Amino acid sequence: MSRHNGSVNSLPGALPHDSDLACALQVARLAGALVSQRPAQLLTYTKSSVADVVTQMDKACEDLVVSEIVQRCPGDGIVGEEGSQRESFTGRTWVLDPIDGTTNYVYNLPHWCVSIGLRDITGPLVGVVSAPALDTTFAAARGQGAWRRTGHGDWQRLSVSVTADMDRALIGTGFGYTQSRRSGQARVLRTVLPKVRDIRRLGSCALDMCMVAEGSLDAYFERGVHDWDYAAGELIAVEAGARVTGLRGQGPGETMVVAGNAMIHGALVAILEECDADSDRP
Ligand code: IPD
Repeated sequence: MSRHNGSVNSLPGALPHDSDLACALQVARLAGALVSQRPAQLLTYTKSSVADVVTQMDKACEDLVVSEIVQRCPGDGIVGEEGSQRESFTGRTWVLDPIDGTTNYVYNLPHWCVSIGLRDITGPLVGVVSAPALDTTFAAARGQGAWRRTGHGDWQRLSVSVTADMDRALIGTGFGYTQSRRSGQARVLRTVLPKVRDIRRLGSCALDMCMVAEGSLDAYFERGVHDWDYAAGELIAVEAGARVTGLRGQGPGETMVVAGNAMIHGALVAILEECDADSDRP
């Protein structure tokens, strides 16, 4: 029997002492509590297409996170999915998605989260992904590992799966919001699906990357995700031992994000390059 599920060090551990991590966790807790107060009337607005929705809670949560960060870290830059943009005077920028997995949130499915990342010019510093409806939070600080809070409040250190073969790999992915993007993604799936154990579309890029970190997915790929979707998840995955790249020697970006344990990552990148997964060709 192969050990496909990676993971957690079963003993409770101590989260690293890092003031930025502590700040991100406090803000994510407040934000998660706000979004968990689901209003009786959830208002939905469409963005890039009818499929792409945003609610009043996305906006309220982003406002809360921005005001907390401005108070705690004046001078830091901020970029948020719902349009927040503050210039950085410190070289540091917070990158946030107030609700990643908004469609799940709208449909009252639990797979949504608040994603808060901090980076400077050298790369990601801190990442926190808080998923209140799943009763868990993921956290990482550069060079200090990736962690998950359990329902008991313990923090467990994460590591990626050890799956080595594509035909035993469980792969997460996601889809964009336009017909042309989705036509290309359907073409890519036709190539990838027969080669792997199965595919999951869970609906939150940030959580997909945390699933890679804890080994419950062997890899994840998606074309078209934004900085705010993966800023925190990227660090959490990397600190758990994942490789996170784009295709053709590029770093992760809107063209493509691929995250996975080293063995599956390499094989998946080769398949995705071969079928031009960085193209929207149908
Ligand atoms: C979306 C989610 C989804 C992914 C989409 C993203 P949002 O973010 O991460 O899993 O497939 O590409 O846009 O819109 O829920 O913040």
